[in-house]
Amino acid sequence: MSSSPLNILVTGGAGYIGSHTAHQLIDAGHRVTVVDTLYSGHLWAIPENAAFHQIDAGNREGMLEIMRANAFDAIIHFAGHIVVPESVEHPGKYYQNNVVASFNLIECAQKSGIGLFVFSSSAAVYGNPPSIPVNENAPLAPINPYGRTKLITEWTLQDIASGSSSNKPLRYVALRYFNVAGAQIEGHLGQSTPEATHLIKVACEAACQKRSGVEIFGTDYDTPDGTCIRDYIHVEDLAAAHLKALDYLGAGEPSTIINCGYGHGYSVRQVLDTVQKINGTNFPIQESKRRAGDPAQLIADNQKIHDLLQWKPRYDSLEVICETALNWERNGNQSVSLTR
Ligand code: UFG
Repeated sequence: MSSSPLNILVTGGAGYIGSHTAHQLIDAGHRVTVVDTLYSGHLWAIPENAAFHQIDAGNREGMLEIMRANAFDAIIHFAGHIVVPESVEHPGKYYQNNVVASFNLIECAQKSGIGLFVFSSSAAVYGNPPSIPVNENAPLAPINPYGRTKLITEWTLQDIASGSSSNKPLRYVALRYFNVAGAQIEGHLGQSTPEATHLIKVACEAACQKRSGVEIFGTDYDTPDGTCIRDYIHVEDLAAAHLKALDYLGAGEPSTIINCGYGHGYSVRQVLDTVQKINGTNFPIQESKRRAGDPAQLIADNQKIHDLLQWKPRYDSLEVICETALNWERNGNQSVSLTR
């Protein structure tokens, strides 16, 4: 590993991105404690060598107790709700779990003298960016409650870190994820969300005949084929960015905010074509009206993550993303054991 082993608290470590990261942290020699409510996470996804507490990351008393009992060097905060359309329908759920719980956690970290914090933010903070690719200094104008809850937590971190009066001031990296997809190359981990809404997951379910087909939400966007364009990033490359962010903070560098994406995008139609091609058979596709809260295009300017974190993506390929997701849908997703 590139730096000395750290003792790390991972909230949401039983979830999709959190579990891939927890495994990479263990493989790199770090000590990991996972906290997760198991609302959308799974016991089988937590690495065997990680400690685990089933608790809400926003539960002040419980989290302070866990922090007191462990001398954590850093927190990686994944826990949160992540579905844009659900946030439009149930905004209160998102404010409670993404804003209130994050605020509680950040305060507990401060009280406990935990100095390093990596936060799962989102490209949703940009809304409909005025120009593409979007860099970290672009206007922040989220167009859905999910994006606003992520932005509020970025601001919370920024204010608390700059007002920090403890002898171990908080430093943080907020990683703004673009569209995360794919599954572990070895096939032991992947996305297992019931009633999934994310495009690649939905397409793989359709390919495996777990659903009757896929709807395209909007074919009249101002894009070459009329469907929305997104910057899809493989979950293992995204997980690796968290380890790089820890190295960065561990080296004493200042708080910052960094885009996580490959810097190029694919339309909904291109994604569906790719999944069908890899699968070898077609599934029904229906053109529907636009979904609320969807920006037409989101593509990362990723210069900063290359320059600052020396992050080198390994799976920058829509084919690899779709192939690993499809493999997980076909094989891994049903065969995982339900206990640790
Ligand atoms: N889409 C369809 N049909 C589907 C599902 C999705 O056409 O069945 C379309 C959506 O309308 C959108 C695109 O595919 O245009 C991608 O949608 P996803 O639901 O897969 O992902 P989002 O772009 O809405 O959101 C995701 C994450 C957010 C993150 C955002 C950043 O869920 O956390 O990417 O780009 F903020």
